[in-house]
Amino acid sequence: MTHVVNWVGQVMPVREIADMAHAHGIEVIVDGAHSFGLIDFKIPDLHCDYFGTSLHKFLSAPIGSGMMWVKRDHIEKLWPLTCYGDPHSKDIRKFEALGTRSFPIEQGIGEAINFHEAIGSKRKQERIFYLKNYWATRVKEIPGVKLHTSLDPRFSCAISGVSIEGITPNQLMTTLFDRYKIHTVGIDYEGVRCIRVTPHVYTRIADLDKFVSAMSEIAANRKA
Ligand SMILES: Cc1ncc(COP(=O)(O)O)c(C=O)c1O
Repeated sequence: MTHVVNWVGQVMPVREIADMAHAHGIEVIVDGAHSFGLIDFKIPDLHCDYFGTSLHKFLSAPIGSGMMWVKRDHIEKLWPLTCYGDPHSKDIRKFEALGTRSFPIEQGIGEAINFHEAIGSKRKQERIFYLKNYWATRVKEIPGVKLHTSLDPRFSCAISGVSIEGITPNQLMTTLFDRYKIHTVGIDYEGVRCIRVTPHVYTRIADLDKFVSAMSEIAANRKA
């Protein structure tokens, strides 16, 4: 199950679904790529069996870093895909037999954690949610603009989907980048058609004002 859905940023009720799954003997793997380092939670709170995440997203660790978490009881039965002398070991380190790799990347993770902890998970979540709300409450008033994500803090945090009637996600993404140098991601899957907008702690209010005014101009100039 995806903890924060990457298309529109919906936060899933992972714990409730995991409890239901366990009642039916089903194990739960959580993809926390967009929740880890953003939402203030502890992995065991989710009641999942396995949790995987990138560390280069909201934790801001070097690109190419990630983390796998396995509930202690499940480690022994999980076969490592990289060679390890004792594949049935109960030691989580059996998954770290990766050979020679870039150690600076791994060392950078420590600095990213220091930076994250200097802010604190709760403050970071609140700040990023504030930034999302700042732009989203403004653009939703623009005629033709539609938000694809709830503004309720239980259901979303940093990421929000937004679209302008009559403009495809790809056109909107390209116009924002080419004309305003604003990077967003076009989402066009399974009937979900919008751009994904994602502020981080370093996004400034001035940046968001620029985005809001760009959206106003694009909406006003579109062909009816
Ligand atoms: C929900 C989700 N899971 C996994 C990934 C893959 O992450 P990575 O590119 O760090 O391997 C992404 C990438 O954006 C994602 O959105």
